[in-house]
Amino acid sequence: MNLLGHVWEEVMENRIIIKCAGPGELDACYKIRREVFIGEQNVPEEIERDEYDAAAAHFIAYNEGRAIATARAVLKDGGKTAKIGRVAVLKSARGTGIGRILMQAIERAPELSGVTDFILEAQTHALSFYEKLGYRSHGEEFMDAGIPHFHMRKPAMQTQL
Ligand SMILES: CC(C)(COP(=O)(O)OP(=O)(O)OC[C@H]1O[C@@H](n2cnc3c(N)ncnc32)[C@H](O)[C@@H]1OP(=O)(O)O)[C@@H](O)C(=O)NCCC(=O)NCCS
Repeated sequence: MNLLGHVWEEVMENRIIIKCAGPGELDACYKIRREVFIGEQNVPEEIERDEYDAAAAHFIAYNEGRAIATARAVLKDGGKTAKIGRVAVLKSARGTGIGRILMQAIERAPELSGVTDFILEAQTHALSFYEKLGYRSHGEEFMDAGIPHFHMRKPAMQTQL
């Protein structure tokens, strides 16, 4: 595999995180998102893909050659903040640590090295997943796409190297 231009890390044997560099990898991300958000969580198809996808960095995780998880990062505040979103692990791969590995790889991605804060909008059921990664919630619970959420934030300096 040509990894030139990719962010990748062989975190554990056969588990690789890649920053998408071509339409094939991007399609694999969208396929996972479709299955998880539209198929499982009933998010309306017309809002699952949005205007931020074009500018986002998209990441994909493989296990034994199979694409199993994805997330994206969007730079905000002139590049000081990275908003991580669309975090999705295929149902069959959950509980194996891949969500944590994906998040940690994204936080270390070279194109996000200038950010001071990572932010996200966590589905309430996933709060402790993000808390274990060092994110803290703030504000009131709010609804998005019919799903309860909290705003969360993590200073970049807390990212484990
Ligand atoms: C939430 C999600 C990304 C977690 O991914 P995952 O690969 O299953 O999580 P991991 O196996 O890496 O878990 C890491 C830790 O978080 C915990 N955790 C994971 N999901 C959790 C949940 N829903 N509730 C509470 N704890 C959770 C795990 O127990 C594990 O804890 P440990 O380190 O003490 O063992 C995954 O369940 C998912 O894609 N869900 C559907 C889509 C979704 O809701 N995305 C989030 C949108 S904000």
